[in-house]
Amino acid sequence: MSVRLVDSYVSSFVSAKECADMQAAVTAAHTALHEKSGKGNAFLGWLDLPRDYDKEEYARIKIAAEKIRKSCDVFVVIGIGGSYLGARAVIEFLKSPLYNNLKKDGPEIYFSGCDISASHMQELLQICEGRDVCINVISKSGTTTEPAVAFRIFRGLLEKKYGVEGAKERIFVTTDRAKGTLKGFADQIGYETFVVPDDVGGRFSVLTAVGLLPIAVAGIDIDGLMQGANDAREALTDPDVQKNDCYKYAALRNVLYKKGKTTEIMVGYEPFMQTFSEWWKQLYGESEGKENKGIYPSSVIFSTDLHSLGQYIQEGERNLFETVVSILDTGVTQTIPHDPANIDGLNFLSGKDLNYVNSMARQGTLFAHVDGGVPNIVLELKDRSAHSLGYMIYFFEKACAISGYILGVNPFDQPGVEAYKKNMFALLGKPGFEQQKAALDARIAAL
Ligand code: PA5
Repeated sequence: MSVRLVDSYVSSFVSAKECADMQAAVTAAHTALHEKSGKGNAFLGWLDLPRDYDKEEYARIKIAAEKIRKSCDVFVVIGIGGSYLGARAVIEFLKSPLYNNLKKDGPEIYFSGCDISASHMQELLQICEGRDVCINVISKSGTTTEPAVAFRIFRGLLEKKYGVEGAKERIFVTTDRAKGTLKGFADQIGYETFVVPDDVGGRFSVLTAVGLLPIAVAGIDIDGLMQGANDAREALTDPDVQKNDCYKYAALRNVLYKKGKTTEIMVGYEPFMQTFSEWWKQLYGESEGKENKGIYPSSVIFSTDLHSLGQYIQEGERNLFETVVSILDTGVTQTIPHDPANIDGLNFLSGKDLNYVNSMARQGTLFAHVDGGVPNIVLELKDRSAHSLGYMIYFFEKACAISGYILGVNPFDQPGVEAYKKNMFALLGKPGFEQQKAALDARIAAL
């Protein structure tokens, strides 16, 4: 087990009986998921993906990643939401948030198409100046505006620099198997393409080519990642809520939600957890936040945020609970040096490892927050390996599905994301949106 749930810091808020009483709902969710009879059952490809993935494409991903690693200084990944968060989360978790600044034997990796910022775009274009560039544009629908605009800009840059034929060797497309503007484009020009399977939604797609190609370009062991996910797939099938930590996590969140704990804070004690928490926030927010229901997912990195949000968590509204990812072996040590002068009074820490000090910060915070009325679910992660991360990714994906079913929503759709798009298209004058534009223009005039 690479992930173990510790319930000692939640047991004073959720009794053993309240947890056991969730068994019927958990069993129903488990059955709906495994018999593929629940809401959104056309999007369960992720469930057996770590075993049933396309082996031929997987081999091509490795070859493409090697080619990219050898042929560029800068690799730009273009995508938004589920089409970039997973890759970025894994790269930063296993390598570093400072990956681009560290010594490495592969290209720098940047993410674009996840905002519409002119300044971010100009900065990325500056970084590309005078350097060899490859891009991977990722969009399941193939029609999302933000990545489509970024792709147009970067494709222009590559075609200017290398010519249309040369650019073709540097552009990699990950999209639907058959449909969408991007697929048509790729086929017409002849880009190498990878597939987002029909039955895997964006936020569940990190272990498809969507995540795996950029992750492999970073030199990460994707075999280990997939093996970890497959081990989780095999380990997390017992419907018994007391024996399956993944289901226990889903059950506990729902009990806490019913008790008014409407915000969940993902807590990490390592900066490399930050984008992983962003991935987790999308997974849970987009899966559960519908029908006027759902736990609001947020995140912090401690100690950093103990000095910004710590006050609120300790004494603000009591609608919070925390889920703490505690990494048992970070794989590095850093000793605090001894100073004979001891002017800073820190010699009580001389010779201590920063991991130890961090763990004491965690222990102290757990007690403080529980004493302040904030339930804490602790998830112990064995280590910072690709295998353990693959396991944790699958753990959270499956818990999300079970939790969404317990909540009574379809965890696999995202109808609410369309509302802003329609308004944006209308305001920008996209053909076909004339009526909405007139209505919005009238609203603006009345402001
Ligand atoms: O989880 C999802 O489905 C979404 O977040 C999508 O990943 C996101 O909207 C991007 O969509 P697409 O990949 O179609 O460009």
